[in-house]
Amino acid sequence: MLLLLLLPLLFKGILCPWPSPEGKENPGPHHLAGEEPLSFHMLQISSFANRSWENNQGSGWLGEVQTHRLDSVSGTISYLLPWSRGNFSKEELESIQAVLQLYFHTLPREVQVHSSQFQLEYPFVIQISSGCTLHPGKASEAFLYGAYQGSDFLSFQGYSWKPSPGAGSRAQNVCKVLNRYRVIKEVARNLLSYTCPRFLAGIAAAGKSELERQVKPEAWVSKGASPGPGRLLLVCHVSGFHPKPVWVRWMRGEQVQPGTQQGDILPNADRTWYLRVTLDVAAREATGLTCRVKHSSLGGHDLIIHWDGYHILPMLTCLAIMVTLVVLIVVGPWFQKQSFNWTVCSPHAPKLALPMEANIQQPRSLGHQLYLAQKSWMKNRFLKKGKISLSKL
Ligand SMILES: *[C@@H]1O[C@H](CO)[C@@H](O)[C@H](O)[C@H]1NC(C)=O
Ligand SMILES: *[C@@H]1O[C@H](CO)[C@@H](O)[C@H](O)[C@H]1NC(C)=O
Repeated sequence: MLLLLLLPLLFKGILCPWPSPEGKENPGPHHLAGEEPLSFHMLQISSFANRSWENNQGSGWLGEVQTHRLDSVSGTISYLLPWSRGNFSKEELESIQAVLQLYFHTLPREVQVHSSQFQLEYPFVIQISSGCTLHPGKASEAFLYGAYQGSDFLSFQGYSWKPSPGAGSRAQNVCKVLNRYRVIKEVARNLLSYTCPRFLAGIAAAGKSELERQVKPEAWVSKGASPGPGRLLLVCHVSGFHPKPVWVRWMRGEQVQPGTQQGDILPNADRTWYLRVTLDVAAREATGLTCRVKHSSLGGHDLIIHWDGYHILPMLTCLAIMVTLVVLIVVGPWFQKQSFNWTVCSPHAPKLALPMEANIQQPRSLGHQLYLAQKSWMKNRFLKKGKISLSKL
């Protein structure tokens, strides 16, 4: 039991996504990573189906970038990016891995053994997010949050375990037991308050170019499922941008349209982002609307997509491709290099398909689903946190 209790504390990472741009009307042309709080966190998701079956997943994150994956069977850490080791030595990384191996070996067993004592009801999921945040010019901040069944359950603050407000007597009981183990608290505090900030400083320096990478968004518009008779759902898709902060609105001239609905910013598989912003309007009023995108990579030149242009452009592209096809079929036998034309045209194909599937978000990987599920319980917490830090800027 003691080991198990200690293990959560051993986690070296903490969660602290970057502040969301929500509420900030203009992200400004430059969004330097150095001005933002930086965080490293470790995520753990443990699912328990019954007394004999559980599954554990662990991952490490520098801000929004996944840097590590833990193979819970072998207990080995996979370093996902060339700079994922930061500037820690091989020995130091091995000792951290040993701690994680012990943790992942012990914790699930302890949870299973004590499931009835703490009235845990199968099937259940435990999520733990732990790590540290560096605020420029300030002391680092450590944190560890635990969730049970997707809701806040407990946290480790200062030097003690605290039940989350509203988590009930179950969380109070777990914290009461955890607080008896001084050793676990020591280990947790050391990992979160000393090891984590050191690791974060090193990995942030090593991954600087990744964090500051500027990739321009592409944007297109489409029609969503009709919200009702005589109404249109305009959908603006913005994809492939980095870093994450972005501003997207439906506008008429310089006027932001009230009722613009923004979805979650979803990860693409190539470590860029995707966002979908919709507007429900009367069909007659759609004319003249534009989707406007501000992003740090655009150097102040906003991307503007006209709603009206949407019908014409894909049709023209379609027509051009069909003409090319016909030409190829007709003149093909005479024209040795027909494959060259295909190469030129094919990049347009995915864009053509998109307006037909207006209601479907276009992730580049199925993996984002899992990612979203993993992060969902943390979202509200960090959204709030992001707003607080934004208001301080
Ligand atoms: C436990 O859950 C797993 C996964 O759902 C299932 O395959 C297994 O049969 C279950 N075992 C028992 C004893 O219910
Ligand atoms: C790692 O890098 C950080 C930040 O650059 C530095 O403060 C620390 O001393 C370095 N640690 C080692 C072991 O080189």
